[in-house]
Amino acid sequence: MIVQHNASLKSLNTFGLDVRANSYVRISSIEDLKHVEELPKPWFILGGGSNILFTKDFPGTVIHVDIRGRGIEGENKNDALVYGMAGENWHEFVRYTLQLSLGGIENLALIPGNLGTAPVQNIGAYGVEIKDVLERVEAFDLITQDVKCFSCAECRFSYRNSIFKGSEKGRYIITKVVLRLSKSPTVNTSYGAIQSELSSMGIVQPDIHDVARAVIRIRMSKLPDPAMLGNCGSFFKNPIINASVAERLQREHTTMPSYQTQREGMVKIPAGWLIENAGWKGKPIGNVSMHKHQALVLVNLGNATGNELYEHAQRVKQSVTETFGIDLEEEVNVL
Ligand code: EPU
Repeated sequence: MIVQHNASLKSLNTFGLDVRANSYVRISSIEDLKHVEELPKPWFILGGGSNILFTKDFPGTVIHVDIRGRGIEGENKNDALVYGMAGENWHEFVRYTLQLSLGGIENLALIPGNLGTAPVQNIGAYGVEIKDVLERVEAFDLITQDVKCFSCAECRFSYRNSIFKGSEKGRYIITKVVLRLSKSPTVNTSYGAIQSELSSMGIVQPDIHDVARAVIRIRMSKLPDPAMLGNCGSFFKNPIINASVAERLQREHTTMPSYQTQREGMVKIPAGWLIENAGWKGKPIGNVSMHKHQALVLVNLGNATGNELYEHAQRVKQSVTETFGIDLEEEVNVL
């Protein structure tokens, strides 16, 4: 394990910010994790760098989890347990499961990031969340120095949340993720955008490969490629508000969409709609903007600094509060 000092993080965060870490270490095995104790604090655990906004240089150690490996751990007539180590790229892993003709994560194609960070925020898209297929997570406990297993229930998943982001934040480093995928999958095309994309592709009876292709086409048309335009996907969560408040707002703003949630009397409002209708979609200020095809995505138009991006996010957030009385909450971690 080699510790680098004053290391550039530019290629390790999808906003493309040229920030530095006082110390940086790449972890390629569980054995390496046993030595992190010796590294200067504070620590920041980095996966694919697709959900982090660095507003300044990092004063401690960036621990870059890059443990590789994937395979099938077990199977029966209906399912296979497919595992991947934390450093595997998420989309490469989705492709691997599609090559095996196993269904369950085709709707999550092309999400940036790594396997190890996917459960932290319970990644989701087009009607599916990782929790729907998650069998087990293994994580290194920084206190006991042991690897601990978490069942799906123990991860306490909710919308873009888990114990790894909440009550146990900072204690565990996820090392391995095991998914239960189906050998005879039923596709989930409940999300309207998928249905219309499949029709425009002329597909009537889609299989998992068709669904993945449709998802990739939708994402490529709306979401900027971080290699071309720095971004972290959705910058804010979709707010969940009281249904009666939503109805009152919808009388005033008749095009405002709302979606049912699992929680009685609460609905989800698309933050992208709120931001667009507060006037921020595709409106640049200096080097930053909310994306012209998806207002929920904060983009680095060129050489923005982390602070410029953060200030813009706060400007947009305040404007949405003033216009609609709804407070947005960041989905991306800000450091
Ligand atoms: N909308 C607008 N204007 C916009 C963007 C969206 O009016 O500029 C409205 C439209 O009514 C649209 C609705 O918002 O129908 C939903 O938009 P979209 O389907 O693009 O999804 P989203 O709610 O904005 C969420 C996830 C995405 C995920 C998509 C698809 C969150 C915070 N974001 O976005 O996840 O890909 O659904 O399932 O829940 C991410 O987390 O980084 C991410 C990209």
